[in-house]
Formats: sequence, C-alpha cells, structure tokens
Amino acid sequence: MPELNRRSVLTLGAALGFAGAAVPGAAWAWPSTGSVAGSGSGLDPQQVWDPQIDQIMASIVDNGQVAQVNDAMRNWVHNWQPVPSALPTDLKNYFQESTKLPDWVDWWKLRRAGDFHRRMDSYLFFIYGVGGGIMSTVIPREAKSVYWSKGGADMQDRAAKTFAFGYDLTDKDAFEWSGEFKVTANKTRIVHAAVRHLLPQSPHWQAVADEQIPISNGDILVTFHSTGTFAHKMLKQWDVPMSDYDEASFLHAWQVALHYLGVQDEYIPATWDEAHAQADATLTPILGWTPEGQDLAEVLLGLTAQVDLGVTRGFLNEFVRYMLGDEIGDWLGLFRDETSKKIIEEGWPLYIKFRESLIPVMPTNFMLFDKFVKGLAMAFLNKGSSTQTTPIEVPDTNRPS
Ligand code: HEM
Repeated sequence: MPELNRRSVLTLGAALGFAGAAVPGAAWAWPSTGSVAGSGSGLDPQQVWDPQIDQIMASIVDNGQVAQVNDAMRNWVHNWQPVPSALPTDLKNYFQESTKLPDWVDWWKLRRAGDFHRRMDSYLFFIYGVGGGIMSTVIPREAKSVYWSKGGADMQDRAAKTFAFGYDLTDKDAFEWSGEFKVTANKTRIVHAAVRHLLPQSPHWQAVADEQIPISNGDILVTFHSTGTFAHKMLKQWDVPMSDYDEASFLHAWQVALHYLGVQDEYIPATWDEAHAQADATLTPILGWTPEGQDLAEVLLGLTAQVDLGVTRGFLNEFVRYMLGDEIGDWLGLFRDETSKKIIEEGWPLYIKFRESLIPVMPTNFMLFDKFVKGLAMAFLNKGSSTQTTPIEVPDTNRPS
C-alpha cells in the first residue's frame, strides 16, 4: 500500500491538477468565509453527519419498514410529484421540507446550468464516468463504504444507480417541474442515512474502517471534489471555452446538489477558487490504494469495456492515466499501452479544439475519440448500459461477505 507523504501528495496533486498542498490528517482549516453561508462554526465537517434524517432512517431500518419505503418511493420520480402518501409519517414530513430549494438559490444560474450541461454533457459524462468513477476507488473511505454496503455486491447495478444521480443533475430541466433531480437527490440522502446506521453493524466494514460512522459532510465534499471540482479543473485544463457565468452556474447546480445531500451551508464553497482550495486540502491528501478500491476499479473498468467504445482496454487504461496520473494508474496496476498513450497525448487536445471549432481541419483519430466519448455518453445515458431506469432503493442490510 503506497505511503502518502508530503512529496507524493504534491506529485499527486499536480497530476490531478490540484495543488495538493495540505498533508494527511491536518486540522480543518478551510475558512467558512468562503462558503455560501459566509460564516460558520469552524467544526470539522468530518464530525458532521445529518442528524434528523439519520435518526428517522435508523428507526425505519430497525422497525423493518425499508420495503414499505421502497415500494412507496418507486413511482416518485419527477419534481412535480407530491411526496408519496404511503411513506411513514416522519419521513413524509421530512421530505416536505427537504425537497425545498435553499433560500440562496439563484434560478437564473440553475437555468443557465441546464443549458451548460446540455452543451457539455459528453465531456461531463466522460469525466464523471472515467475520471471521477476511478478516482472514487482510490478514496479509501468511499471505497470501503461502497464495497461493504449492500450495493457493493452488485457493482453494475450500483454504478447504474450512481449514474442516475449524474444524469438527473446534468439534465437540462434538472431542477424544473418536469425534471427529476430534487427527487433523486433526496432519495440519495436517505440512502446515505440508512447506510450510516447499517455499516457500523458490519464486522467487515468495522475491520477496515478508520471512522465510526460513514458518509460525513466532509466525505460528501470529497466526493464532490472528485466529480464536480475535478470536472471544472479538466475543462479548464483542456481549454474548453466557458464564460464566467457558465462556470458560476455549473458550480451553482452543485451547490444546490450538496445542499440536498445534507451538507451544511458553511462547508459549501461559494466560488470555484474556494472549491479548489478545499479540494487541495481535503481530496488529494487522502487518496490511497485499498483492496476494496482495487476490486471496484476492476469492476468499473470491466463495465466500461462491456460497451463497444471502439477502443481496447489498453486505451482505456491510458485514458485513466492521462486524467488521473501515473501514480494512481500504478496503484491500480493498469497495464501500459505505449501506442494508445501517444495517440491520446497527441490526439485529445486536437479533438477538443476541432469539436469546439477552434481549428478548421479534422485531426487524424477524430473519429476514434468521437466514438469513444459518444459510446461512454450512451452508456451513461442508458444508466450503466441497462435500458431501464434503475430505481434508487434504500438498503436493508450490508454486503454479507
Ligand atoms: C448510495 C451518490 C457520496 C457511499 C448512493 C446513491 C447515489 C449516491 C446516487 C444511491 C445509489 C445506490 O443505492 O447505490 C452520491 C453522491 C455523493 C455521494 C452524488 C457526493 C457528491 C458518498 C460518500 C460515500 C458514499 C462520500 C462514502 C464515503 C455510498 C454508499 C451507498 C451510496 C455506501 C449505498 C449503496 C448501497 O445501496 O449499498 N450514493 N454519493 N456516497 N453511497 Fe453515495
């Protein structure tokens, strides 16, 4: 298992496009003046969970009401639909409040985000699916939680459900009446609450975990940085044209998403600069190899390989390395493919330039990249290559072994 010292943190940070200036275990130093709240308690978000819903879901799990909740939620999909009446009263009342938008919401930005997502969807699916997906396997707490929770036993299904979140957030009408994101995000919030009650009862998780209760506010922010903040970094690094308002709107959609996932306002970054500063302090220093993450990475890369993307596994490996760097590629033992490496390094920047109409002549290998990106987008749109929507369901148990 690789040791993370300051030097390797810096190297990793540079590879991921983050500064990686902080060291593992450092105290919470990100200032709440940079948050949407503008001030805060200064409490470490690793010590903050989601007390109200955690208590409701613990009692639902203990009272054997999980099946009732899942049945009641199955047809609750669109933002316009009322909270299902067949839910237990506590949960129904909770959802009445939790599905409301925060008072700092900016509808202009949410609508612009919808338009931005429509224009950027291929890049975003690609970055979330390949970059963010594989990065999640080297976030030790996330890898261990995902592996030892019920869904870890069937990663194809789990990946499809997680894609549903990204897909619904990226939808043009995500927050509108006809969209689905408010519902999807709130379902996700209660799944996390159930997991906080269940996982501490798993002897397997207990044996490997370095925390008492999983999925803190701090953990959720880390996942945001491995997806949203990372996507912003990649788009900038690849010189994809974006206006300042586009960028702010893209962040705003994530700010509301974090609110829906139960992250306190004092931790939600107000600007991309603040988000990157937080990512430097919280994401890069904690990355590392785990046996659970290794297994998940293999399943995820295998999943992608099931879809015909017109490329080999070596090409996929090299693209992961191109986005996440060689240190992570080496941890996961991704075999090298020098030909693909050269094609990607030379061809990807030109592919973007041509796609964005910044150069007039179609580069060699344009079609190869295009098939790859579109294939991934299709897999994403089909929610993990299944043709049916995979409903998000509350787990009633942990992974048995
Ligand atoms: C479940 C998204 C953060 C661990 C889910 C689900 C979604 C989701 C959509 C429901 C799908 C399913 O049942 O598999 C997100 C998003 C996050 C986030 C968007 C942050 C931006 C985290 C973090 C952890 C985590 C930080 C752990 C450290 C889990 C686990 C499940 C789950 C264990 C339950 C899987 C099961 O059913 O067994 N998450 N998640 N998530 N998430 Fe998250």
